[in-house]
Amino acid sequence: MKLKSVLTSLSLATAMGLALAGMARAEQVAIMCGSVGADQDQCKKGVQAWEKLTGNTVKIVSIPASTTDVLAFYQQGLAAGSGDVDIYQLDVIWPGIIGKYFIDLKPFSKGAEKDHFPAIVANNTVGGKLTAMPWFTDAGLLFYRKDLLDKYKLKAPTTWAEMAADAKTIQDGERKAGDAKFQGFVFQGKAYEGLTCDALEWLDSFGGGHIVNKAGKITVENAKAEAAITEAASWIGKIAPEGVLNYGEEDARGVFQSGEAAFMRNWPYAWSLGNGKDSKIAGKIGVEALPMGPGGKHTGTLGGWQLGVSKFSKHQAAAASLVMYLTSQAEEKRRAIEGSYNPTIPALYKDADVLKANPFMGTLISTFTNAVARPSLTTGAKYAEVSNDFWNAVHDVLSGKSNAKTAMASLHAQLKKVRGPGWDK
Ligand code: GLC
Repeated sequence: MKLKSVLTSLSLATAMGLALAGMARAEQVAIMCGSVGADQDQCKKGVQAWEKLTGNTVKIVSIPASTTDVLAFYQQGLAAGSGDVDIYQLDVIWPGIIGKYFIDLKPFSKGAEKDHFPAIVANNTVGGKLTAMPWFTDAGLLFYRKDLLDKYKLKAPTTWAEMAADAKTIQDGERKAGDAKFQGFVFQGKAYEGLTCDALEWLDSFGGGHIVNKAGKITVENAKAEAAITEAASWIGKIAPEGVLNYGEEDARGVFQSGEAAFMRNWPYAWSLGNGKDSKIAGKIGVEALPMGPGGKHTGTLGGWQLGVSKFSKHQAAAASLVMYLTSQAEEKRRAIEGSYNPTIPALYKDADVLKANPFMGTLISTFTNAVARPSLTTGAKYAEVSNDFWNAVHDVLSGKSNAKTAMASLHAQLKKVRGPGWDK
């Protein structure tokens, strides 16, 4: 046998051996990924890169768009001890509610969590256990049409009152010019977790507290909170369509991105899609911090998503490896550039490519680092009920069923029941 063919058969054998060994090691893991905006596409890209790298395969399971529906869906499967899915995409408000179903990722992370925002890592750590790795963070922002502000000779508003006045001017003008559907402002007004986020921003921007304070005291009955919700209710039917009472993130984005609204409250993901090829308003979008109430401040609710490995998973090591890949600096950078998902790694806020794709990640850095947290750490396992009662009370005011004073008084009484008598003392 000639040397060349010896070498060829040797390398063939080696290749076959490697392939077989790989096959023996290869595992299939299943991951739950969101369905808002580009969630599925971007999840798939990251997953495919890891499949290539490891030879493992991944099944992507799509979850509902509303985080409220996702929680109910997860709770059902987890309470039944289902091991069908290995990796869960987890909202920042859930570690206290379902953290107990997830393994400690510390043995797998080798300290990589130290590269992420410490506050998010602390949020995800329950009883010393790192229940999930931070994947992307969120804060509510005000998106506006730069071209329309110019057309009507307006500047980006800094207070809610200015925003409402500008929205009305633009809405009146555009309707007069023949666009009967045009809206001044769209946001998340449906009775779900998204409304809790929007309404917490109204409260905080007026100096009206955070629903429940860090000491566990219910703070909803106060004049500033009531004024904030009353102001929001005044938008309905004037600068926002009645339909906003049933809008989630994607409904608001749909209206704004088709060129039918002047202002929109949404999360950062809307930037990349709004400037994408399917958008009617690419290149025409401005972003700034949400407006302030009288004597209040600019603020945004802290949102964001983590990845955790189920304790019922039969592929924990492989699943943890995928979680570490998806939350790595390179992958968070790719997602920030392609999908405007805010990184959870502070170093990426100084990355020139990230800032070029998303200038607001630099200019609004304090909105992200000072975002206001929902009271999920204080209320722990009760958070879902607290939030549910809050969004229902706010929804009643927005839809004209109640006024803010009455709604906040009965919310206070209701929240006391959630934690039992004596809480709030
Ligand atoms: C976004 C946020 C999340 C929040 C949800 C509300 O997905 O990241 O934290 O709970 O919106 O709709």
